[in-house]
This record gives sequence, structure tokens and C-alpha cells, in this order.
Amino acid sequence: MKIPKPTVKRLAVYYRCLDNMLNEGKTYVSSKELAERLKIKSSQVRKDLSYFGEFGKRGVGYNVKNLIAELKKIIGIDRRWRVVVVGAGNIGRAITNYPGLYKNRFDVIAVFDSDPAKIGLSAGVAGPVKPMSDLKEVVSSKKVEIGVIAVPAEAAQDVAEQLVDAGVKGIVNFAPVTIDVSPEIVVEDVDITVSFKTLAYHLRKYGKNR
Ligand code: NAI
Repeated sequence: MKIPKPTVKRLAVYYRCLDNMLNEGKTYVSSKELAERLKIKSSQVRKDLSYFGEFGKRGVGYNVKNLIAELKKIIGIDRRWRVVVVGAGNIGRAITNYPGLYKNRFDVIAVFDSDPAKIGLSAGVAGPVKPMSDLKEVVSSKKVEIGVIAVPAEAAQDVAEQLVDAGVKGIVNFAPVTIDVSPEIVVEDVDITVSFKTLAYHLRKYGKNR
């Protein structure tokens, strides 16, 4: 069955919310409570989860620990993922050293850059910045599946091709351009300006009545 993309995105949000609830000591949660926290409809929560099975008990709700374990399996974070970052600039370094990634089971094992002045400098948790000439060897020997593009827009397509050629299966692209790779490679674009533009749209549309 094809799962809608927004559902998959919401699963990650449910996971984050449940993880916070577990830390607060909650054992059971109803779809209503989960929905209220996330400011969405409880029917949406039930529908999203129903794609994957029956997790809750009527009247009792979901066991938080069990649902977290199920979501881990569904999302694919019941295992760790190895990640390489290309571009040791502001974004590349911020991603590499974001503890939330490690906590969510994504290990940035190396950072690459084409600037000779940056090679060998510390990239934080991933050790010294490596030259692009090492990309293929590192990706294949360490069985890396995910690549992050954190280079300027004009270099993004070339870096994408190098990542695919090295053997990564998925790319998170921070550069503000659409990259063109073969369809079996999964690409996720991240762009903070899209959030700002969405916000601006809503402020413009509803702001006059505030
Ligand atoms: P930066 O200039 O600090 O870092 C870019 C790094 O990429 C530099 O170290 C440079 O040497 C390296 N680089 C350039 N060409 C390369 C190549 N062909 N191969 C390997 N490395 C190469 O830039 P910053 O601020 O880290 O931004 C990186 C990218 O992220 C840009 O495309 C920027 O537009 C984008 N960006 C995206 C955001 C988002 O929300 N997705 C937010 C901010 C920036």
C-alpha cells in the first residue's frame, strides 16, 4: 500500500512527541491527547497510524513505549544509519554536530570538502574534514547509505552525482536547487526559507485582522 508523504512526515512528529511524553513519565496516551499536543485532529492521528496496524486499545489509548517501538520500526530508526556530509561550512558543521541526529540514530561518520584550506580541520564529532578524493572509499568501506549536500547551489548537482557514484542511497539536500539523480535515489530537500515564506503568506493573509 502506498503511504501518503504527509503521513510519513507526521509519523516522525508523533515519534518526537511520544518520546517527550515518555520522558515526562507517561505510560498511556490517547489519540485525542496526542492530537491536542500537536494541534491536529485526533481522527488524523488514528488514520495515520491505521495504515500500519492496530496499536491502541479502545478506552485505554496507546501504550507509549510500545508505540515508540512500533514507530521506530516503521520509520526505519530501529537501526542506526551512517551519514556523510559534503560541505564543511556553516550548515555542514551545524548538521554534523547536532546531537539530535545522533540521538535519532543517524551517525555522521565523515565530512568532506573541496577547499584544500579546510582539509584536516576539525569537523567536530566526525573528526578532521576529508578531501573529496576520499569520498568513494569511505562510503563503500563504511557502508554509508545517506549523504548530505551542504555546498553552494552551483556545486550541488556535481556533489549529488559524486555521492550517488560513491554508493549512497539517499540524499538530504540543503542547497536551494533541485538536484537531478536517478529515481531509485531518495532525495529530501530541506529549505528554511520555505518555512519563512509559508509564515509570510499566513501573516499577509490573516495579519490585517489581528
Ligand atoms: P558555506 O559557504 O559556509 O559552506 C559551503 C562549503 O562547501 C564550503 O566549505 C566550501 O568549501 C564547500 N564546497 C563548495 N563547493 C564544493 C564542492 N564542489 N565539493 C565539496 N565541497 C564544496 O555555506 P553554508 O552557509 O554552509 O551553506 C551551504 C548550503 O546550504 C548553501 O547551498 C546554502 O544556500 C544552503 N543553506 C540552506 C539552508 C536550508 O534551510 N536548507 C539554510 C542556509 C543555507
